[in-house]
Amino acid sequence: MALCSRVLCLLLLSSFRHVASDRVKVSLPNVVEVRKGDDAIINCSFTIPGQANYTYLHWLYEKNGRVNIYYVGQDRQYAYDTEFKDRIHVADNFTLYISEVTLQDERTFVCQIGAGSAGFGENRTELRVYKSPDPPDITVNEVGILVTDEETPKIARCETKNGHPVPNITWYKNKYPLHQGNKEVNIATTVIKESSGLYTVSSTLHSRLSKDDKDAFFYCEVNYRLPGKDLMMESERVNVTIFYPMENVSLIVESPSRPVTEGDNVGLRCKGDGNPAPEYTFYRVWESEDRKEMEEEIKEARDGLLMFESVRRNASGHYRCRALDLNFVVSLQADTMLSVNYLDPIQMSRESPVELNFGDNTTIVCSTMGSQPSAIQWQWEEQVIAIGPLLNLSSVDYKSGGQYSCVVTMPGVPGLNASKGVTVVVKGQPLVSVSRHLVQVVQNDVLNVTCEAFGYPAPEITWSVNGSVVHKREKHPVSSELSVQVTKELLRSGIKCSATNSLGRGEELITLQEVTVTTRPTITSTGEPVKKEQKRAESKGVLIVAIIVCILAIAVLGAVLYFLYKKGKIPCGHSGKQEITKPGKQQEDIVVEMKSDKAPEETELLPGPTGEKPLPGDQGEKYIDLRN
Ligand SMILES: *[C@@H]1O[C@H](CO)[C@@H](O)[C@H](O)[C@H]1NC(C)=O
Ligand SMILES: *[C@@H]1O[C@H](CO)[C@@H](O)[C@H](O)[C@H]1NC(C)=O
Ligand SMILES: *[C@@H]1O[C@H](CO)[C@@H](O)[C@H](O)[C@H]1NC(C)=O
Ligand SMILES: *[C@@H]1O[C@H](CO)[C@@H](O)[C@H](O)[C@H]1NC(C)=O
Ligand SMILES: *[C@@H]1O[C@H](CO)[C@@H](O)[C@H](O)[C@H]1NC(C)=O
Ligand SMILES: *[C@@H]1O[C@H](CO)[C@@H](O)[C@H](O)[C@H]1NC(C)=O
Ligand SMILES: *[C@@H]1O[C@H](CO)[C@@H](O)[C@H](O)[C@H]1NC(C)=O
Ligand SMILES: *[C@@H]1O[C@H](CO)[C@@H](O)[C@H](O)[C@H]1NC(C)=O
Ligand SMILES: *[C@@H]1O[C@H](CO)[C@@H](O)[C@H](O)[C@H]1NC(C)=O
Ligand SMILES: *[C@@H]1O[C@H](CO)[C@@H](O)[C@H](O)[C@H]1NC(C)=O
Ligand SMILES: *[C@@H]1O[C@H](CO)[C@@H](O)[C@H](O)[C@H]1NC(C)=O
Ligand SMILES: *[C@@H]1O[C@H](CO)[C@@H](O)[C@H](O)[C@H]1NC(C)=O
Repeated sequence: MALCSRVLCLLLLSSFRHVASDRVKVSLPNVVEVRKGDDAIINCSFTIPGQANYTYLHWLYEKNGRVNIYYVGQDRQYAYDTEFKDRIHVADNFTLYISEVTLQDERTFVCQIGAGSAGFGENRTELRVYKSPDPPDITVNEVGILVTDEETPKIARCETKNGHPVPNITWYKNKYPLHQGNKEVNIATTVIKESSGLYTVSSTLHSRLSKDDKDAFFYCEVNYRLPGKDLMMESERVNVTIFYPMENVSLIVESPSRPVTEGDNVGLRCKGDGNPAPEYTFYRVWESEDRKEMEEEIKEARDGLLMFESVRRNASGHYRCRALDLNFVVSLQADTMLSVNYLDPIQMSRESPVELNFGDNTTIVCSTMGSQPSAIQWQWEEQVIAIGPLLNLSSVDYKSGGQYSCVVTMPGVPGLNASKGVTVVVKGQPLVSVSRHLVQVVQNDVLNVTCEAFGYPAPEITWSVNGSVVHKREKHPVSSELSVQVTKELLRSGIKCSATNSLGRGEELITLQEVTVTTRPTITSTGEPVKKEQKRAESKGVLIVAIIVCILAIAVLGAVLYFLYKKGKIPCGHSGKQEITKPGKQQEDIVVEMKSDKAPEETELLPGPTGEKPLPGDQGEKYIDLRN
């Protein structure tokens, strides 16, 4: 039955072909793309001239001839007994469905319409089946490449399996594609059709490389198609070891990165630019007496690094490294100079302590030797007082004494420095000062008085009365605080503070004055009456009143005098004014108190030069002041 209609069909086809094609128009897509395993759908639509109906429709394929696969008539439809029998069906609108498409289904399908007297028409569709290949595998030449190779060496091989249709492989070097035509590039591609019908493509890249390619990377790209889109996959990136001859060698002081100083750990690095790394040998280079160069091999170096631990200055000198490239038989050498900076301990022209007599002039010289020019400073209590090696001290006084230090730095070598201190002592007889010369006291009270003495050698302070010494400082300037009970006898004798050293003696007297106020004033720790402020205010008031009175009196007197002057001469004196300002007992007190207001520390007796040169004259006057 099927065979009969097939034969009939072919007969019809051959006899009416030339007539039919003009009359019936069949519309079919040119290409239908489908993934392997998916369903293929091929639409078929047609137009028949006039009102005529189709009489039959045939779906058939072309592969070494034509084979009917499906028949649709006005009253019945069926699939022919072909390989497609169980996988196809045709919808009411004549669309052909093929389920689970295989690679073998790839062929041309024909939709043919017969329309009786109107003839027949047909159109064709090419069915294409796609399968994406597996991600590519890349294998790199593990051995490495000699840039001097005669042939173009193999770089890598790339393979992608199970694709359909045949995928393409493109090679890339550093993101740029390589093509067969390129200089020194040779790409060999093999395509294998597996029994499954899928394709495995492998490509081998051969290329000549140079030293510049030492950091180059390579990869392959697979281009393939799936229905409706072109796609690609990249392999991982590989790099290939390239062996190239050494062209340059360098020898540098690798560490430290600053100028080398004694005590540093120093690394000398020798580096040749060949691959593989050459063999390194280090030498110390000497110049012999007859000006010939001598080399002495240093064996301690490892892998091009020569380490010196805690270098001394004798490590300074000329070093050489020789690099031997065994692969390419190249030998090169490089030289460097190592200079180890140093600063010798400081020498002083005078031994510490430097003892000077009051008023002496002297110069202390600080000197040192170093690998580079150095900068010298003299400091006194962290302050720079002189630049250069000389410390000039002239007309020294006690203020000039103390700890001086010479600080040496090397501007060219940060961190390299040295310093040395020298103690200057100014010898002289004691200079004594007391907290106050006049103290108001109340009998039987306990009084504290302080005495301070400058001088070198350090003076010893003694008191004229028996009491207990509550505070004592033996460091320069020495001081002593005495606590004593006020007796009648003490009131009469006063308290005398004496300071003695081998060069002489100084003393100061403290006069005591009994206070006869009814309200007993509380004595402060320094023996000062609390009423002081009140008293001062009182006396100030009196003073102001007195001045006003005086001005008024002068005004009146002036008027009177002017009046009298008109009549005859009258002598004019200062007696009135004198009487008013003459210091009474209270006035005396004010003077004393103002003086004692100043604490002993504020009298500027403490040593300390104000600049480069102490000002001895200035200071001397102050001492005199205090002694009075
Ligand atoms: C086949 O179908 C296509 C798409 O509809 C159309 O462009 C083409 O002309 C047809 N060919 C014939 C021979 O009818
Ligand atoms: C078939 O035709 C219909 C309607 O014209 C369309 O929506 C569909 O995409 C077509 N199918 C194919 C596989 O061309
Ligand atoms: C012709 O086609 C129309 C619809 O297109 C249908 O209704 C009619 O039955 C067909 N005639 C014959 C004789 O098959
Ligand atoms: C034919 O009918 C099917 C549903 O049966 C539909 O999916 C398809 O798009 C139709 N084709 C055309 C050309 O109308
Ligand atoms: C593969 O390469 C050929 C030739 O360069 C090209 O014609 C083809 O379209 C490519 N195929 C894919 C899937 O890119
Ligand atoms: C390639 O070389 C770089 C250094 O140039 C290295 O970091 C990387 O690991 C190498 N990659 C491969 C795959 O050898
Ligand atoms: C050798 O090194 C020097 C300085 O580093 C450079 O200028 C020169 O180009 C290098 N020569 C070669 C052949 O690499
Ligand atoms: C430097 O001198 C020390 C002894 O002072 C010696 O031990 C050392 O080997 C010398 N170093 C060099 C590099 O000459
Ligand atoms: C110290 O030098 C000054 C001038 O700077 C001079 O007047 C004084 O006499 C000198 N003193 C001594 C002890 O030489
Ligand atoms: C110190 O005195 C010497 C002469 O004795 C003089 O040449 C030098 O300039 C002085 N230096 C300073 C810093 O005063
Ligand atoms: C002196 O050297 C020490 C280290 O030896 C460093 O810490 C210091 O900063 C240096 N001082 C100066 C002024 O360079
Ligand atoms: C005298 O000094 C001692 C010891 O600092 C102290 O205990 C005492 O209170 C002081 N006396 C007076 C009157 O300030």
